[in-house]
This record gives sequence, C-alpha cells and structure tokens, in this order.
Amino acid sequence: MSAPVALITGGSRGVGRAVSLRLARRGFDIVSTYRRDAAAAQSLEKEVGALGRRCTTLVADQLEPESLGPVFARIKEVHGGLDVFVANAASTAFVPLTAMKLHQMDKTFNVTVKAFLYGVQQCLPLMAGRKGKIVAVSGMDSRMPIPFHGFLGAMKGAMEVLVKYLCNELAGEGIRVNAVNPGYIDTDSSRFYIGEAWPMVEANIASQVPSGYIAPADEIAATIEWLCTDESRYVNGQTLVVDGGLETAYGMRMAASLSEPKR
Ligand SMILES: NC(=O)c1ccc[n+]([C@@H]2O[C@H](COP(=O)([O-])OP(=O)(O)OC[C@H]3O[C@@H](n4cnc5c(N)ncnc54)[C@H](OP(=O)(O)O)[C@@H]3O)[C@@H](O)[C@H]2O)c1
Repeated sequence: MSAPVALITGGSRGVGRAVSLRLARRGFDIVSTYRRDAAAAQSLEKEVGALGRRCTTLVADQLEPESLGPVFARIKEVHGGLDVFVANAASTAFVPLTAMKLHQMDKTFNVTVKAFLYGVQQCLPLMAGRKGKIVAVSGMDSRMPIPFHGFLGAMKGAMEVLVKYLCNELAGEGIRVNAVNPGYIDTDSSRFYIGEAWPMVEANIASQVPSGYIAPADEIAATIEWLCTDESRYVNGQTLVVDGGLETAYGMRMAASLSEPKR
C-alpha cells in the first residue's frame, strides 16, 4: 500500500510548512511548492525525510498560475495520484484600493483565485477514486476590513465562495472541499511586515483576542490537517474560522472601551 500524497502550495514556510510537517507525521508523502526561498525548501525536504516520508519541493510562482501545471505532471510521474491539495500560498501588494494598479490586481487574482481553481482542475484526474480533500487557506481580511488588505480580502472571499460551488461540483467524485479562515498568525512573514513594532503589536492583538494570544502557525495547521482526514468527513463546502474568537469580540471590546474611566 503506497503512502497517501499531499500537495501544499507555499509548503516550505509559515502555515504551509506546519501543514507539510503535520501531514508527513500522519504518513503522507509531501509535495511542496515555493517561489524563491530555496533554503527553506531544502530544509523542509530534510525534515520530512527524517520523518521517513518522501518530500519533493518545486518552484512554481503562482503569479503565473499555469506554473502549477508541471507540479501536477511531476506528482503523476512520481506518485501516480494525489489525495490532498492545500491551496496556501498567497501574496499581494498591501496598498489602499484607491491606489491599486491594474497589474497589482492581476497579480493578486492570479496568485489566489486563478491558481486555486486551476489547481483544483489539475487535481481531478489525480484524485480519481481516492476520496480527495481540498483545503483553501483564506484570511480574516475577507471578514474584517484591515488597512491595505482590501483586494486580498476580496480574493480570499472569492475563494470561500468557490469552495461552496466546488463542494457541489465535485460531490460526485467523492472529493471534499473546505477552507480555513485564520485570524492573526505568528509567521516570519507577519513579523517581516510588522517589523520592529512586533512586540507592541503582539501584546495589543493578544489583548483583543479572547483566547489571549496570536496563534503559532501549527495551531492553524492543526485545523487544516483535520479537514484532510476522514475525522472531518461530514464537513464539506465550509469555511472554518480559526481566530481565537477575534471576530466575536468587537462589540465586547467597544463596550469595555466605553466603560473605561475618561482620563
Ligand atoms: N500570516 C498571517 O497572519 C495570516 C493571517 C491570515 C491568513 N494568512 C494566510 O495564510 C497563508 C500562509 O501565510 P503565511 O504567513 O504562512 O505565509 P508566508 O510565511 O509568507 O509563506 C508563504 C509561502 O507561500 C509561498 N509563496 C508566496 N508567494 C508565492 C507565489 N507567488 N507563488 C508561489 N508561492 C508563493 C512562499 O514561498 P517562498 O518561501 O519562496 O517565499 C512561502 O512558501 C496565506 O494564504 C495567507 O494569506 C496569513
């Protein structure tokens, strides 16, 4: 019996890496794409290899969604099929919507929505008869406006709508499609974008999240892993919010701030 196979886009850093390692520990062979950080990809191959699983890392810049084509061809060649597709990679230009250039819109659309749907289409022949699982990684910017996240939030929202349609279109194939919508996550990219202010921002955010902390990538990966197993077999076409209760706290925080004594 050959090992199940999982493809994770952007599977060498952040959330994607945590998913790659969790699925490898669960017995999956891993195929991970990345854009340019070859060192992170090589260290992932080593770490998955040490878990006794095969790991193939491939460059596929989703600015050109069709760059995923050779990835699926390699999966067919090396593994003959696919059991899990996690559409995790994303990038955008963090600018106000009023200032967003047409090429920036195209790039964000390509990396998110277009690469996701193209990836799903490429999955189908490889998932035939294997009860495949597809998980899209969304973001809180599809639920709560965050400065300079307008277009990315809209694209993530679009991916959540695609998940509902695909759940129905792929029902006959026995393929389940879901999404995970994380809140703030402690990844090297979050720290990169926030920079020196991270400790202050981290404390501020942690005070606003009912769970009281910013999630490490592995806590988001745990939910994605669950959606990739039969334990979640009756969850289909859904977007699971994993944000420590952040979204639920707005009203409470507002009330609390109104009752604070005026200085
Ligand atoms: N971080 C957060 O606070 C947060 C919150 C909510 C949702 N999310 C979502 O969670 C997912 C993972 O975020 P993260 O913070 O873990 O990301 P990350 O640390 O920036 O890692 C992203 C991964 O995606 C790859 N990647 C980036 N642009 C790509 C492109 N154009 N084509 C192919 N691969 C590309 C990167 O490759 P290289 O290693 O080569 O750069 C890397 O492996 C994303 O969908 C993000 O929108 C993140």
